[in-house]
Amino acid sequence: MPESLERAVWNKLKEVRFPGMSRDIVSFGFVDRVAVDESGKVRVELEIATHRAELAEDVRRAVGEAVNGLEEVGEVEVELRLQRPPAPAQEAVSRDAGLIPEVANVVAVASGKGGVGKSTVAVNLAVSLAQAGHRVGLLDADIYGPSLPMMFGIRDRPQVDGERILPFERYGVKLMSLGFIVDTDTAMIWRGPMVMKAIEQLLGDVEWGALDYMIVDLPPGTGDAQLTISQRVPLSGAVVVTTPQDIALIDARKGLAMFRKVNVPIVGIIENMSGFVCSHCGETTDIFKRGGGETTAELLESTFLGRVPLDPAIMEGGDSGVPVVVAQPEGPHAESFRRIAEAVIAAAAANVPPRLSIF
Ligand SMILES: Nc1ncnc2c1ncn2[C@@H]1O[C@H](COP(=O)(O)OP(=O)(O)O)[C@@H](O)[C@H]1O
Ligand SMILES: [Mg+2]
Repeated sequence: MPESLERAVWNKLKEVRFPGMSRDIVSFGFVDRVAVDESGKVRVELEIATHRAELAEDVRRAVGEAVNGLEEVGEVEVELRLQRPPAPAQEAVSRDAGLIPEVANVVAVASGKGGVGKSTVAVNLAVSLAQAGHRVGLLDADIYGPSLPMMFGIRDRPQVDGERILPFERYGVKLMSLGFIVDTDTAMIWRGPMVMKAIEQLLGDVEWGALDYMIVDLPPGTGDAQLTISQRVPLSGAVVVTTPQDIALIDARKGLAMFRKVNVPIVGIIENMSGFVCSHCGETTDIFKRGGGETTAELLESTFLGRVPLDPAIMEGGDSGVPVVVAQPEGPHAESFRRIAEAVIAAAAANVPPRLSIF
């Protein structure tokens, strides 16, 4: 009986979700051990890394109730071990008090190569976080190919207050891009030190104010801008965007390796342009194959955050200045981005080492 009961307990635990999350506690890796004895006594050991002890307590209670509801179960004992990861915001102050002291969490959106939808993800993620009530900034650090001016249809120069540059604001997100300040062709010939200086100014000279999250749209690859950001700013985590082709995945792996080298936790991998949904017949065609992001996430012991299909509505959102999460807030894409936003929030709250799950 103990084996089959143990299996039943594990299955039951897979129905328990972390509060506010769509994933279950087993897939998060929060269940450390389940032991069952001959008398039907069940002992569950939870190990949860989070700042929010009250939520972990809720999980403990939910686990107790769920397991108690099983037939054949006698006594239930749930042990909760709470790990307290260092607060990213405090680390931010100690690592670089000057640059952006009022920003609690900085999350980079990165990719191995260009054109995979990094900016699209950054914009929709930032707006999703703002829609959920957070104070959000979006920094376009893609010095060589800034996207924000076009994606938000902004052609003006930002206003200046004394020495400080004022960010634009759209859909509750504060926006800054080098593309608002200089002619894009000018930056093309910039080398390392100029790039570093530009990024430092976009961080330190802009009146970002107090933010819960700053999303950084990084240039593709692993060059000067990425290094400057990861050295000058305490990143809470990085989201890596890829398309399902093998070639994109190889580059995504390089990106992941760079963040690990500089000790930035990987929130997870997003597979963008994953399948094309035909608006005429409704059939899905996997133009670039499918599932590569998931396999890569598994191979690299990272988290798969979900796939976003190739859909003209998403491109439209980029061209029209109205992101798809604003244009179709109840649509499936908004739902995908909300789920990604949840994962980012969870990762920032816990700031776990990259090998663990997103908590
Ligand atoms: N899921 C998607 N469906 C349709 N078009 C997309 C999707 N993701 C990105 N695009 C489009 O692909 C192009 C490249 O995306 P972008 O976000 O600028 O990529 P990157 O920042 O990685 O270079 C843009 O025209 C964008 O609108
Ligand atoms: Mg871009």
